[in-house]
Amino acid sequence: MSLSKEIKRRRTFGIISHPDAGKTTLTEKLLLFGGAIQEAGAVKSNKIKKGATSDFMEIERQRGISVSTSVLAFEYEGIKINILDTPGHKDFAEDTFRTLTAVDSVIVVIDVAKGVEEQTEKLVEVCRMRNIPMIVFINKMDREGKDAFELLDEIEQKLNLRVTPLSFPIGMGYDFKGIYNVWEKNVNLFSGDSRKNIEETIEIEDIQSPELEKLVGDKAAKTLREELELVYEVYPDFDREEYLEGKLQPVFFGSALNNFGVRELLDCFVEIAPTPRPKESSTRLVKPDEKEFSGFVFKIHANMDPKHRDRLAFVKIVSGTFERNSPYLHVRQGKKLKFSSPNAFFAEKKQIVDISYPGDIVGLHDTGNFKIGDTLTEGEEMQYKGIPSFSPEHFKYINNADPMKSKQLEKGIDQLMDEGVAQLFTLELNNRKVIGTVGALQFEVIQYRLEHEYGAKCSYENLNVHKACWVEAKDPKSEEFADFKRVKAKFLAKDKRGQLVFFADSAFTLQMTQSKYPNVKLHFVSEFE
Ligand code: G4P
Repeated sequence: MSLSKEIKRRRTFGIISHPDAGKTTLTEKLLLFGGAIQEAGAVKSNKIKKGATSDFMEIERQRGISVSTSVLAFEYEGIKINILDTPGHKDFAEDTFRTLTAVDSVIVVIDVAKGVEEQTEKLVEVCRMRNIPMIVFINKMDREGKDAFELLDEIEQKLNLRVTPLSFPIGMGYDFKGIYNVWEKNVNLFSGDSRKNIEETIEIEDIQSPELEKLVGDKAAKTLREELELVYEVYPDFDREEYLEGKLQPVFFGSALNNFGVRELLDCFVEIAPTPRPKESSTRLVKPDEKEFSGFVFKIHANMDPKHRDRLAFVKIVSGTFERNSPYLHVRQGKKLKFSSPNAFFAEKKQIVDISYPGDIVGLHDTGNFKIGDTLTEGEEMQYKGIPSFSPEHFKYINNADPMKSKQLEKGIDQLMDEGVAQLFTLELNNRKVIGTVGALQFEVIQYRLEHEYGAKCSYENLNVHKACWVEAKDPKSEEFADFKRVKAKFLAKDKRGQLVFFADSAFTLQMTQSKYPNVKLHFVSEFE
């Protein structure tokens, strides 16, 4: 098949939600439709169980699972679908943000009873800023929840989205009768036992037809007609271009657990969701159908087997074809590398592949060459943009607790930082090392992994910092910048790339500093060119 045909049949996306909204369940049902798995229960949830946050076995279990569920691929009606897993736990939010740089679209899962939750808000904001096309799936319609219109309002207001329902529920909870598919104009009745089967739908040519009464009863038919009238009146018509530009978000209702409303979602998804999109690099916009291969590392998994120091770098292919054993340029290191056993991912397994296409993810065995954000090309000197680090919110001094093992400690810290587990800063004043993380859980992960994978021991000391911000001086030679550096000397550090960082000890300090030094910009993400 030609490159352009392969590109056309690929859809790479992520499912985002607040924990417990039903992401794992929905993923599993999608795989069932694709025939990629045979039964429910095959997709393991990678969420960290409640109350088990300090259980290291749990962290290891979670890490193990998250390798196997990092990418789930399947075919549906000739379309190759790649689902990229996004951890729901807030302490791993940065992982999710990075994965979002590798998706071409997302599905947002919302619990009908809980509505828009905190994690949903944060993740959707990132997608909105990047104009990633989004489809919303309102889940758990078999339970009592919020009124559909109320929920649509909430989504518009809290998530700042412009929505249009492409399906609409008939009743809810105990009275849930099914959904009307606005997109295909048919009714899908809920029987409560469709968990394993793919349900039949009933075509309704005209919503006024008495057929509707026969299907759902007089009361529900009347309500549905009234509600649909309102839907057509209030919400914009679906427009694919607007959806692709991230300006309009179609909404579906269903129950993932009951495998209900999932087919509607999937059928519409394969029809409207974008094929692999062009990506901006340091020099130009790269299009997927260009002949030459290029891609970037968005995730690194290391040392699952402590005996083997190997890591798996996940590369999203942006353009051309990736071929086994071809030499590719590792742009940051300026050297060519060959990969003899690149992995492709399927529903439950990974497998060596000879060739992969834009939209696909390949897993490359790595002995320490890669960092998150690295670019591979056929020779062109360019770097993909847009894998920022976020301002950490938890900080501790890190000390060596076993002086005999300082080399191991250094190496361990280095590699864990490359993987993106946390960020390392060096204070300007005294060269002390500070670890900054987005979630508190990472400190335990680092300590545990340093000991078990690198044989090094570390201890922490508290450090009172509210936020770290990257510093950009409008004029590095100005008096104002010199004054800033003098006054704030105690609070300045360098990150791993040597960029200057300011540690603000409170929100108040941050605000004061910003107003006192208007020409020194403080950024909350590391990329600001
Ligand atoms: P997550 O990955 O987003 O964290 O959510 P997950 O799919 O694990 O689902 C969270 C809980 O919600 C699970 O129950 C799951 O069975 C339930 N659930 C998912 N979809 C639906 C739905 O459509 N209707 C109803 N009623 N429940 C749904 P649990 O008891 O936490 O876990 P489990 O023991 O069932 O696995």
